[in-house]
Amino acid sequence: MNYSRNILVTGGAGFIGSHLIRLLVNKYPQYRIINLDKLTYAGNLRNLEDIEQMENYVFVKVDIIDKDRIKAIFQEYAVSDVIHLAAESHVDRSIEDPMEFVKTNVLGTVNLLQAAKENWNKDGNHIFHHVSTDEVYGSLGAEGYFEEVTPYDPRSPYSASKASSDHFVMAFYHTYGLPIKISNCSNNYGSHQFPEKLIPLMINNIVHKKPLPVYGKGENIRDWLWVVDHASAIDAIFHEGRIGESYNVGGLNEWTNIDLVRHLCRLMDKKLGRADGESEELITFVTDRSGHDLRYAIDAGKLESEIGWKPSIQFEEGLEKTVDWYLENESWIKQVTDGSYRGYYIQMYDNR
Ligand code: NAD
Ligand code: DAU
Repeated sequence: MNYSRNILVTGGAGFIGSHLIRLLVNKYPQYRIINLDKLTYAGNLRNLEDIEQMENYVFVKVDIIDKDRIKAIFQEYAVSDVIHLAAESHVDRSIEDPMEFVKTNVLGTVNLLQAAKENWNKDGNHIFHHVSTDEVYGSLGAEGYFEEVTPYDPRSPYSASKASSDHFVMAFYHTYGLPIKISNCSNNYGSHQFPEKLIPLMINNIVHKKPLPVYGKGENIRDWLWVVDHASAIDAIFHEGRIGESYNVGGLNEWTNIDLVRHLCRLMDKKLGRADGESEELITFVTDRSGHDLRYAIDAGKLESEIGWKPSIQFEEGLEKTVDWYLENESWIKQVTDGSYRGYYIQMYDNR
């Protein structure tokens, strides 16, 4: 089959990457989707079981730090485009061990940019879409929104590494004319998110009646977007966004952490047939995260006015779908946290 595009999606076995790959392989049979992933603790091929047999899908187990393997993949699969999601993504881990974040998020991104620059013809119809975060803009007070022109002000090792990668992506556009696009998204929630992040961690702890650790007073604010809507935004920006531009993606859906956790408790008390207020008793205020950003809020007006993208569902509906998925997929949580399922795939691909 002659594919019209050979799109390298990095980090496709992770949370957002797996939703994006599912969308792309189903919607675009004319494209070949090459999922490149190292399968860290956060990557799990079980996330893609439903599509792994599709003809236009390929998986390769590669570390983006490995520049020779990256170069080889570009040639072997005639890579025409990149949608780059592979990253160390958890802020708390970056506080513990910043160097892994520098390696994957900064050096890994530069390796991919170099490979694209070396392999792509200047007149070719290529796109390097870098998936980034709103955390590069720093922290807001009670008022205002992050816009694409907001100056970068990263404050955690994670956001510093993502900001650095964004700057390299823009530098390759300005210096070498590499056809890039960047999207900066707010907090995602949905199925298949590793249970170290706020929402799946709380769901799992509520199920098992474990303490619900709320950092500080729980007054920090995040803007939550359903992961399927983030995948549709990436699709829209990849196809319709302008080269050399960045686009903010968000849900206009701000919650303090404590309100969100209480809402989850009430929802899950109903689902689990518990007395009203039973799960709220599990809430435990713990030492705050160092340098904890107070508030993130996205102005996604550019994406809406230029491309017409909007979130498809309300938060309450998305959250209920998410809770239902975790309740129906307890074995997934068990397997990603004990590593057993991922281990099987690692062996299979290591032995190739
Ligand atoms: P995730 O941690 O769930 O998945 C990351 C994936 O990258 C995993 O499959 C992992 O195996 C892979 N990976 C890590 N290091 C690698 C390496 N060196 N080489 C190859 N693969 C590697 O992350 P996520 O939440 O799905 O985030 C995906 C991207 O979206 C990241 O770039 C993140 O910064 C960005 N983002 C995330 C959110 C969010 O709320 N989760 C919001 C905005 C932007
Ligand atoms: O804004 C986009 C970013 O959102 C992404 O770039 C990151 O990859 C993603 O991890 C996420 O970062 P956050 O730090 O906002 O997400 P996290 O789920 O870790 O935390 C959400 C909020 O909840 C934050 O204010 C910290 C708080 N929190 C988190 C955990 C894990 C708690 O109060 N208790 C917890 O146990």
